Amino acid sequence: MITNETMKSILARRSYKAFKSDPIKDDILETILEAGKYAPTGLNRQAWHFTVVKSEEGKKMYKEALLEMRRQGRGPAGPPPPQPPNIIVKPEEEFRGAPVMIVVSGDPSLDIARLDCVLAMGNMFIAAASFGIMSGWTHMTAKDLFSDPEVKRQFKIPQGYEVYSAAFFGYPLGEPKDRGPRKKGTVTML
Ligand SMILES: Cc1cc2nc3c(=O)[nH]c(=O)nc-3n(C[C@H](O)[C@H](O)[C@H](O)COP(=O)(O)O)c2cc1C
Repeated sequence: MITNETMKSILARRSYKAFKSDPIKDDILETILEAGKYAPTGLNRQAWHFTVVKSEEGKKMYKEALLEMRRQGRGPAGPPPPQPPNIIVKPEEEFRGAPVMIVVSGDPSLDIARLDCVLAMGNMFIAAASFGIMSGWTHMTAKDLFSDPEVKRQFKIPQGYEVYSAAFFGYPLGEPKDRGPRKKGTVTML
């Protein structure tokens, strides 16, 4: 494998369950978002929207929406996932201590909107890693949370859009989960 700066960032990126609360500087955050916006989109439609939750009000709104979802008995069933040792993240503190969450939504009338939004998130993960900022995708929780029209309204998700990816970004705390070696036999050369 050849190593260059881009490869270093790709290899450095890891998913984290907990983050330091240190803020991400605005110019770095803008750069991460720009990386997202430069992902390819089907027919170059760019029918996506990036919602950045970073204010205390926004985080509080997220936590309250989560608690309300749980009160209603919606959301992932069962106990919260295990946390890394020595890191206590209360179930209601799903922000994982991170300074920023980015939610990418798209126009569901375009059947490839989901792919566009996921590619944007991938670009942002790698751009973030190039600054030493790690990420943590939150799939089921965000999926259930943003299926509620009232929550979408609160978070100013554009009318008619669906949320396809949501992740926390921040400086990492603790160690990432051991992801093991890459699987073998996943490449066929013809
Ligand atoms: C579509 C998708 C959904 C994911 N959902 C979650 C999730 O809900 N919670 C979580 O902690 N990690 C989630 N992850 C992160 C994966 O667990 C992680 O990427 C995988 O274990 C490999 O580890 P690495 O990212 O550190 O290489 C998700 C990743 C993807 C691509």
